Amino acid sequence: MPQDLQRVLNLLNADLAWEYAALVQYIQHASMLTGPQYVAVIDELLQHAQQEHQHAVILSDLIQYLGGIPTVEVFQRQTSVDNVEMLRQDLQLEYDALNRYLLRIRQLEDLGLYDSAQKIRDIAVVEQEHAIDLEKALGIRKP
Ligand SMILES: [Fe+2]
Ligand SMILES: [Fe+2]
Repeated sequence: MPQDLQRVLNLLNADLAWEYAALVQYIQHASMLTGPQYVAVIDELLQHAQQEHQHAVILSDLIQYLGGIPTVEVFQRQTSVDNVEMLRQDLQLEYDALNRYLLRIRQLEDLGLYDSAQKIRDIAVVEQEHAIDLEKALGIRKP
């Protein structure tokens, strides 16, 4: 296997381990968030969890398709007993995911793997929506 492809496969496996982490973190945060103002946010987080699950399936299949072995690792999860802190942790996870995926799109396109890059692009669009949802839930206003 070419070295460039092996390197991207290792990075895709890291992306997969982060998707598993996001899935676990969202489920736990949805259970822990409390208060009447968070009822709609809890539904939102559970929807995010389902989409992170879909991302994990897409990545796992993509890694296998490209000749790699999908990881079963789960990266670091974060939690808190504070509602706002949990949402901040989730938002940071989304920003980090977006940064990784934008890089991954470029790396895959550099290898001529435009079809694989498109799959990552589709995931990135959903992560951006997750970030928007969390920014709104946190009341973040941009100048
Ligand atoms: Fe995701
Ligand atoms: Fe996400």
